[in-house]
Amino acid sequence: MPAMGTILITGANAGLGKEAARLLAAVPGVRKIILGCRNQAKAMAAKAELEAATGAEIFEFVRIDTTDLDVVRAAVRELPERIDGLILNAGGAGGPEGHLLTQDGVTGAFAVNVLGHAALVEGLIAARKLRGTVIYVGSEAARGIPGGAPRPDLKTSSVDEFATIADGSVLPRFNTMTNYGLVKYMGTMWAGSMARRHPEIRFVVVSPGATAGTKAADDMTPLRGFFFGRVAMPMMRLFGWAHGVEEGAERYVTVLLDDAYATGRFYASVPPGTSGALVDQSPYFEDLTNHQFQDHAYQALQRFLRTEPAATGRGDHAAH
Ligand SMILES: NC(=O)c1ccc[n+]([C@@H]2O[C@H](COP(=O)([O-])OP(=O)(O)OC[C@H]3O[C@@H](n4cnc5c(N)ncnc54)[C@H](OP(=O)(O)O)[C@@H]3O)[C@@H](O)[C@H]2O)c1
Repeated sequence: MPAMGTILITGANAGLGKEAARLLAAVPGVRKIILGCRNQAKAMAAKAELEAATGAEIFEFVRIDTTDLDVVRAAVRELPERIDGLILNAGGAGGPEGHLLTQDGVTGAFAVNVLGHAALVEGLIAARKLRGTVIYVGSEAARGIPGGAPRPDLKTSSVDEFATIADGSVLPRFNTMTNYGLVKYMGTMWAGSMARRHPEIRFVVVSPGATAGTKAADDMTPLRGFFFGRVAMPMMRLFGWAHGVEEGAERYVTVLLDDAYATGRFYASVPPGTSGALVDQSPYFEDLTNHQFQDHAYQALQRFLRTEPAATGRGDHAAH
């Protein structure tokens, strides 16, 4: 089992992130869990709740808003020590306004799920504050969910095409779930590229699977949110297509603590499912391990980071 003294979890004040913090507090050797949240009051409430639930006083707070690169970079400076385990969990489909552009020229959905996390990881590496394992929280939407999100259908997988995922222009008409699948796909490909650039760090993409009981529905319009949270998810659980928050967060913990989950791979439910066993997706979807496509995702992302890449790249291919 890899050493896990200090763990940082983004979006840790609710849902899967908070549950992962609760589960990890019981793991021997975990000395500190840093809750990376955008709202201090919510983070402090979660901290108190986690302390009461676990009896452990190992939770700390750092402000991280993944849609604001300045805040992310301030967090990198503020973090006092090396992180052994980093869970890039903040995110979601971004709701009906997920297509609106941030100051960095990317959609809100892309900013929260990918851009801020990339800035965090690259900043921590440059500051020599990261070792161990990085978990990028993906989704089955990144390889398609029948009836939920179409499989991302890129034409060339060039740098330019990946850049259109970031700025939202890939879709002629915005659709929240289609966009979400594309965004998580690009995050997954970026993580694959990072795994080869930084072989000393284990980068694993994990989907929690369809998880009922988080506040993901809060992002949706009231009607859609009601249907998703109160009708669709309970029905999916009934049929074994979804599970509860503990089972979803357990996937993060399992992968974090077990080196057998290989760097550069994406683990999710057996296709086309959204719950049950956690398996490597690459035997089903060859593009997921295409190094050139992964590097194109990485290069496209750098266009929006407002700085040079934090670490020199390995295996870069000429931008298209
Ligand atoms: N639930 C599922 O079925 C499912 C399935 C596959 C993948 N996932 C993925 O799992 C992760 C967690 O989802 P969840 O269902 O637990 O969602 P959730 O209950 O809505 O929790 C999301 C967390 O992310 C935080 N967050 C949102 N925007 C942020 C920002 N800009 N900066 C920092 N933190 C931010 C939220 O903080 P606030 O309280 O401040 O909003 C909250 O703590 C997401 O990446 C999601 O895409 C979920």
